[in-house]
Amino acid sequence: MKISIIGSGYVGLTTGACFADIGHEVICIDNDSNKIKSLLAGNIPIYEPGLEELVQKNVKKGTLHFTESIEEGVEKSLVIFIAVPTPPLEDGSVDMTYIEKVARQIAAVLKDYRVIVDKSTVPVKTGEKVYQTIKRYNSHNSEFDVVSNPEFLREGVAIHDLLYPDRVVIGATSERAIKIMKEVYAPFKAPILITDLNSAELIKHASNSFLALKISYINALSRICEAAGANVQMVAEGMGLDHRIGKHFLKAGIGWGGSCFPKDVAAFIKISQELGYDFKLLKEVSQINNDQKEIFLRKIRNVLWVLKDKRIGLLGLAFKNNTDDVRCSVAMDLARVFLKEGAIVQAYDPKAMRKAEEVLPSIHYCSSALDVAEEADCIVIATEWEEFINLDWKSMKSKMISPIIFDGRNLLDKKKMIEMGYHYVGVGN
Ligand code: UDX
Repeated sequence: MKISIIGSGYVGLTTGACFADIGHEVICIDNDSNKIKSLLAGNIPIYEPGLEELVQKNVKKGTLHFTESIEEGVEKSLVIFIAVPTPPLEDGSVDMTYIEKVARQIAAVLKDYRVIVDKSTVPVKTGEKVYQTIKRYNSHNSEFDVVSNPEFLREGVAIHDLLYPDRVVIGATSERAIKIMKEVYAPFKAPILITDLNSAELIKHASNSFLALKISYINALSRICEAAGANVQMVAEGMGLDHRIGKHFLKAGIGWGGSCFPKDVAAFIKISQELGYDFKLLKEVSQINNDQKEIFLRKIRNVLWVLKDKRIGLLGLAFKNNTDDVRCSVAMDLARVFLKEGAIVQAYDPKAMRKAEEVLPSIHYCSSALDVAEEADCIVIATEWEEFINLDWKSMKSKMISPIIFDGRNLLDKKKMIEMGYHYVGVGN
């Protein structure tokens, strides 16, 4: 199948590489000429395990191409995916200008039947608007269908999620488009759910909001556990063994971040409001998340008292492990507060330091995890990188002024840390 993907960002690039790898002929398009040049040279602008190798392999094989030209993509491909950003506006609603522009650009060069697939996360009813826009600006009056095919990949495990998806959602009513979309996904052997356009679009916001809700629920429980002298990790384990609940997304911590959950929860609240429903439950989910960070900061202030001139060793800057993404990272938010209050922040992250430095140059970036302990008044664990579990915590302790650990991800074994002589503060335990 000949496929074009407009937008070579996180979703577009990983999707393009995976489609090419399973045998489709793929053209990835982007209007950023530097990005296209660097991709053609084999350089990947993001850290995603396995992506660089997959791109290079398929470029070499001749199934993955890059171009700036939407015209070329539309001409050469039967299926055109839209994977451009849908960033949040200040009031929580979604900026649709990129999608609208791409719809017009496709319309301008559309000559024969094409399936236009929206992969970006968009408010419900976007597909209808994309359809109307293409129809309005299509001077050749060509036939086309618009399909919604939301992407559920997680950063850090994106290749796995794309190659082995839990489900593929196809929102379409045209039998012709459904048949073509089934062919696109046939090699994946994943369950395919066919819905109408609006339902497919809702599934994405509904899923992400539900996952955020699950984390906020366990974070709210972590406060009850602390008040009652119980252990949230055990409570989560006991809950998760019930198949109806499931064990995933029940890790209490300092709250969810990243480029999706904060944006999607805010957007879903706004979308619901516009549809006449006040989604109070989701507002609370968001509030719990904001409070979770504040409560953690309060714990730090309770022990250290004044943060000014304290040396804080920060482990983790990415919004979660296995990524270099620092967008809406709770770890970065914590660093901002520490710096604002006059603390010295010495931080380490296995992958995210370059991107963090662009945003927060006043952090002292360390070349190893061990270095953050140097003369530190405390260590704060803010990202769930596995390598932090197996650090030489004895050596770390000997470097610190006072051996205090604030474990914002419940990564370490509390009992062991206390036995080692640490003052250990976790979440809900
Ligand atoms: C998410 C969705 O999982 C994915 O399906 C969607 O396509 C995009 O948004 P992602 O943003 O990559 O993916 O990260 P995810 O692994 O879901 O984690 C989101 C945040 O929740 C992170 O900050 C993570 O640290 C936090 N989290 C996750 C918890 O605090 N506890 C958990 O149990 C799980």
